[in-house]
Amino acid sequence: AAWLRYAPLPASVARQYSAPSTVVALNISEVDPVYTAGQELQKGIQGIFGGKVTVANTNISLSSPAIIVSTLGQYVKAYGSETAGHVPELTDDAFWLDTTGDTVQILGQNGRAALYGAFEYLSLIAQGNFSKVAYATAPDAPIRWVNQWDNMDGHIERGYGGDSIVFSNGTIKNDLQRVIDYGRLLASIRINGIIINNVNANATLLNPKGVDGIGRVADALRPYGIQVGISLNFASPSANLVYGNLTTFDPLNQTVIDWWTNVTDTIYDRVPDFAGYLVKANSEGQPGPLTYNRTLAEGANMFASALKPHGGILMFRAFVYDNHINETNWKADRANAAVDFFRDLDGVFDDNVVVQVKYGPIDFQVREPPSPLFAHLRQTGAAIELQITQEYLGQQCHLFYLPPLWHSILDFDLRSDNKSTLVSDVVSGKRFNRTLGGYAGVVNVGVNDTWLGSHLSMSNLYAFGRLAWDPHGDSETILQDWTRLTFSSDPAVIETITDLSLESWPTYESYTGNLGIQTLTDILYTHFGPNPASQDNNGWGQWTRADADSIGMDRTVSNGTGFSGQYPPEVAEVFEDISTTPDNLLLWFHHVNYTTKLKSSGKTVIQHFYDAHYAGAENAQTFATRWERLKGKIDDQRYNETLFRLRYQAGHSIVWRDAINEFYHNMSGIADEAKRVGSH
Ligand code: GCU
Repeated sequence: AAWLRYAPLPASVARQYSAPSTVVALNISEVDPVYTAGQELQKGIQGIFGGKVTVANTNISLSSPAIIVSTLGQYVKAYGSETAGHVPELTDDAFWLDTTGDTVQILGQNGRAALYGAFEYLSLIAQGNFSKVAYATAPDAPIRWVNQWDNMDGHIERGYGGDSIVFSNGTIKNDLQRVIDYGRLLASIRINGIIINNVNANATLLNPKGVDGIGRVADALRPYGIQVGISLNFASPSANLVYGNLTTFDPLNQTVIDWWTNVTDTIYDRVPDFAGYLVKANSEGQPGPLTYNRTLAEGANMFASALKPHGGILMFRAFVYDNHINETNWKADRANAAVDFFRDLDGVFDDNVVVQVKYGPIDFQVREPPSPLFAHLRQTGAAIELQITQEYLGQQCHLFYLPPLWHSILDFDLRSDNKSTLVSDVVSGKRFNRTLGGYAGVVNVGVNDTWLGSHLSMSNLYAFGRLAWDPHGDSETILQDWTRLTFSSDPAVIETITDLSLESWPTYESYTGNLGIQTLTDILYTHFGPNPASQDNNGWGQWTRADADSIGMDRTVSNGTGFSGQYPPEVAEVFEDISTTPDNLLLWFHHVNYTTKLKSSGKTVIQHFYDAHYAGAENAQTFATRWERLKGKIDDQRYNETLFRLRYQAGHSIVWRDAINEFYHNMSGIADEAKRVGSH
């Protein structure tokens, strides 16, 4: 149930509110999210206050103590437009919530918005917040999707919460109850779309059984206002390569175009509200248009025009790079790839294409500057790709509350044309006047009871939805709402979870990758545990260029890879100059001696490494003991399972500390001033 427990409020709190025992849901059918809203309100109020709640879908008098949930349109039909005079104009997916009158009003611009309003009301009362409110709220961005990297055999790529809830044995499951439960969670955080299969896509999903399966998932999620889309393999039409019966997958070849048009029409026959496609092309061995010397835009537009008559969207990933680059070339840089590939294509994409950009130029690292591509998509819809699954960030075995990291990107001002250009305003479409854009979160929930593999990691999923709706949301406020809903309002619980969560990013960064060097994990296979040696001497390009004297990527224009020049001038200037580059990105942008002194502390780079690893691991040691304070304040099961994780982290942080410190000590031969490193 995660944050939708609807646990009974303590009697002293519950007493302060007389919850209506009638819900009127003006739904038009049982697949209408307004119907779902009615059911959810009934369940929620019964759970929180006890007692019995009835749901009707006929009009009642507006002076009776009831909750009315409806679309604004249905409401006006039922009660007349004069009764809605006080409701402001509602944009797409927006809702109005009013608890000031005899009747609680929850009115959505559409059905899913009414459902969002119902969840909002339930969230307030579940937290014991009975204040009288009357407000409208609207999403910052139209696209608020999750991505699942589920393979058809049921395994999830970079998933840490068990196998797929959607697929098993090469096909879509018959029992979709977990999908329905997931839909409920997602609707409560206002997610409106889901890509159900891995970006490294298997084309057999397009066979008749697969299409029917997609239809069944869409049927399961429709009552939650969530539209379904799929990832595609670019080479699907080609017989010798993947699935179809053609000899080519050239996006400009008419038989290929017809093939995709036919596939798309077939899907829409089964799923009229199908969301669209997600495509990973020419990346990490995946096929794409470059094979035929076609541009990425020509590839994307082929899908976009097949989707267009149906109103579908094509999410095209910007994660395109060459994974065989040569480290002996000082100017080679994977970070340059996205802008190099996409800059000249701006303005060439069809208007239902959205370029989906990972938050940083490399790959979900513990510290990255924002992708400079956000400044170059001025005539193209843009979405930011965030990861809820903690691929490089401890894989749910280390505590990592992500919103502060996301804020470091979303709040970043790229200063295009010397004007305010927050990343959040690019993806909302506001900055460059785009109608499409938004958020894609790689979640990878599985069949595990905890969904993600650990209880505390669910705060990240909750916060993802909240920030996709309002990117200015405060990380701590969101976390505390989640904590009250998930665990309890007990001040010790709130305080402990808040402290640990807000310390989690700096702590993890301290023992895994300092000063912008990236997460020094095993990048070749597992992406888990320390392996600083794996960064270099391979074509993946997550290099540190560490040698006996120096470390870091020189990404300056003057002497390095030129990456800093991909930012608009005001930002480029800051990163180009070592004296204005913030310490936490020093080694991202500059190659320096281990003895270079940091601006913030005056310490040398190498001494900072040693000290930070000790400090980070030491703080991680405290997490488990601080958690122990909560014994008896939450249920034993979640208490113990979380304690187990935090104890693991305590040990593993020492493994990290020593592996990295010893590695750089050996490499540099520079002694630790505190004489800890090298003494083992
Ligand atoms: C990462 C991840 C892969 C994934 C890829 C992507 O490199 O490790 O598993 O396929 O990103 O986002 O496409």
